[in-house]
This record gives sequence, C-alpha cells and structure tokens, in this order.
Amino acid sequence: MSAPQPVGDVVGRAAAGFTAQFGGQAAGSWAAPGRVNLIGEHTDYNEGFVLPFALPMRTIVAADRQDGEHWTVWSELPDETITFGAHDVAEPGRVTGWGAYVAGVVWALREAGHRVPGARLAIASDVPLGSGLSSSAALESAVLAALLDLGGLELPATAQPRLAQRAENVYVGAPTGIMDQSASIRCRAGHALFLDCRDESVEHIPFDLEAAGLAVLVINSRAPHRHADGEYAARRRSCEAGARALGVAALRDVGVDQLDAALAQLDDEETRRRVRHVVTEDQRVLDTVALLRAARVNEIGPLLTASHVSMRDDFEITVPEVDTAVEAALAAGALGARMTGGGFGGCVLALVEVDRADAVAAAVTTAYAERGFTTPGTVPVLPSPGATRLA
Ligand code: GLA
Repeated sequence: MSAPQPVGDVVGRAAAGFTAQFGGQAAGSWAAPGRVNLIGEHTDYNEGFVLPFALPMRTIVAADRQDGEHWTVWSELPDETITFGAHDVAEPGRVTGWGAYVAGVVWALREAGHRVPGARLAIASDVPLGSGLSSSAALESAVLAALLDLGGLELPATAQPRLAQRAENVYVGAPTGIMDQSASIRCRAGHALFLDCRDESVEHIPFDLEAAGLAVLVINSRAPHRHADGEYAARRRSCEAGARALGVAALRDVGVDQLDAALAQLDDEETRRRVRHVVTEDQRVLDTVALLRAARVNEIGPLLTASHVSMRDDFEITVPEVDTAVEAALAAGALGARMTGGGFGGCVLALVEVDRADAVAAAVTTAYAERGFTTPGTVPVLPSPGATRLA
C-alpha cells in the first residue's frame, strides 16, 4: 500500500499529527535539516575534512512528555505509530525499521547516563528519504533536540553529533561517519560547515550564493542509494586497510605531497585507488575552503567536478544515473557538478550561474529521457540553519 502524499507545511503536519494521534497540543516542536555535502566525500571516517551545508528541507518532531519509560512515536511516513519501552532500549537493535532511529537516540542518551523522559512524538519530514540527503541524521537530530529539551538534559551542541552517530552506528547498525549529524546539528544559514572530523572543530564558512549570482541545484538521480549496505562498509574497510599498510592512524595523515610515495608502498591496485581518492579529496576540501574564504565562490566548480571524477574512477561509488546528471549539467554550462553523499545513487549537486539554472535542469532531464532513466527531480537550495527548537 502506498502512503498518501503529505499535504501542507511540514511544521503544521507534525503539530496536526500530534493532535490527531495523541489529542491535545504538543509541548513544542523541534526541527533538524537534511544536508548536502558541498565537497569532501568518504573523508569523514578517515578523520579528514568535509564541507556540508544544511538544506531548507527539515524533519519536524512535535512532542510532549508522558509518564513512565515509554515512547510512543507516530511518523507521517509510513503513517504508523510504534511504542517502545525500557526493555527495547536496553540493548541495540530491538526496535527495527524507521523506529530504530528514534529508539537509537533514546538508547544512546541512556547509555551516556541521561535520564530520558518518556515521550509522545509526532514526526513529519520534507527531507526526501533514501536520496543521500541525510534523512536519517535529520530524524536522529530532531528527536535528540526534542528529548534534550523535554528532559531538561544538558548536552552541548558540540557533543550531540557523536551521540546521534552512536544511535546510527550501534543501535541501527550502519557504519557511517560523523558528517551528517554534525551538519544537521551544527550548520548555520548562509554558511557551509568546515568540519575537521578528527577533532570535530568547525569553522562556519560564508557561502553566499545569491551575492555571487550563483545557485546550487540538487538533482535527485532517482537511483536509490544504498550506503547502509555492504558497499559503504567495504569502502571503509579498504581505507582502514590502506591506513594500516601505510602505518598511519588514518588516511587524513597522508598529505597530497606524500601521495606518490604512499601509493608506491601499496601493492594492491584497488587500495591504491581508494587511498588516492581520500587523500586528494581532503586537499580539494581545503582548496575549496581557501577559495570561499577569499570570496571566490565562482571558482570552486573545477574542484567539485574533480571530486566527482575521483569518486567515479578511484572510489568507484557512482552509477550511470549520477554520471549522466553530472555530464549533462556540465555540458549545459554548470561551473561544476558532483555526486553528493554516500554514493550508488542519491543526489548530484550542480553549481550554476543563476540565469543558467533552468537550462541546466532541462539538459539533465533531456539526457535522462534519452537514456530511459526515471525523470530526475531538480531543486535549487540555499545554506539553511541547523537543528533548532521552533516553539
Ligand atoms: C554517508 C555517511 C557519511 C559520509 C558520507 C560520504 O552520508 O553517513 O558519514 O561518510 O556517506 O561522504
């Protein structure tokens, strides 16, 4: 059975959902965004650099406390209510499906020693699911914000991404890095988040597209991405094997000036390609940050495109749909384009001059039609705020 298409504003849908499911009004609403990663892919778990920004699409949690250690959660997609209790969050994995992301946050908070209040939560979202825009991190981050506030719990924003990541890594069982939760929680409007994934220090880098006459288009390739499955874990294992063979703690410790010497020490060709991607990608993040700091945003396009080529040829995580979108966007005049997120589908971002945006979107649609792919969705996005309490 397919779920009905949500109607109305997402904040209103969460509030109305709360009232319809539980009666009365929620004590408050909390929002957390999805993210697009401008550059720095598969560098986070290599303790390197990433540069995501928050999307205007958000997940909203309208919530209230309830007595006892019970959590009752309604989600608009798939219009389902689940209930879990202390037993279900005593150990990872006892709640499955979409509810695992919620139960995982409760579990991670309790594991960190917090007294988590029982709660009723209503969830609505306009972050596309399974499209590489971090719908899962948005859900975890919104639930975390709600439970912290409802329980009067103290957890600095700098520590929140790790806790949400533990929910995903340990409770849900997906071996993802720290980027997505950091973006959803720590991003600021008008800025990209330059995150050092080793010490989690951040710098908010102004990313003023409008002033530069530019737009970022997010193109949904419609090829479902599958980063929770074996391919993501396999890339991670290759990187760790590369670091071990090179005698470094993480690939972050190999600079581009050391790359040739490092590659010469590796006898496996596949590991060499994986290492080359990560080392060059870290440098591309640093180069992008340098250009943005110098207000030269219109010059970052070639770095974005080089990142895509590296993901395609060295990290081998692209699929025909995303390669087609990138090629068509560039041929239509995009300044740069790349797949964003874990790979194997998901979304492409294209940096375009504002007056080329429609032509680039149309060119991608035409290229898809020629190849018989499902029509892609294209939307311009601006860097938006991170997680927040709404009311
Ligand atoms: C997914 C993971 C992130 C990161 C990206 C690739 O989005 O959740 O931690 O590894 O893939 O950059």
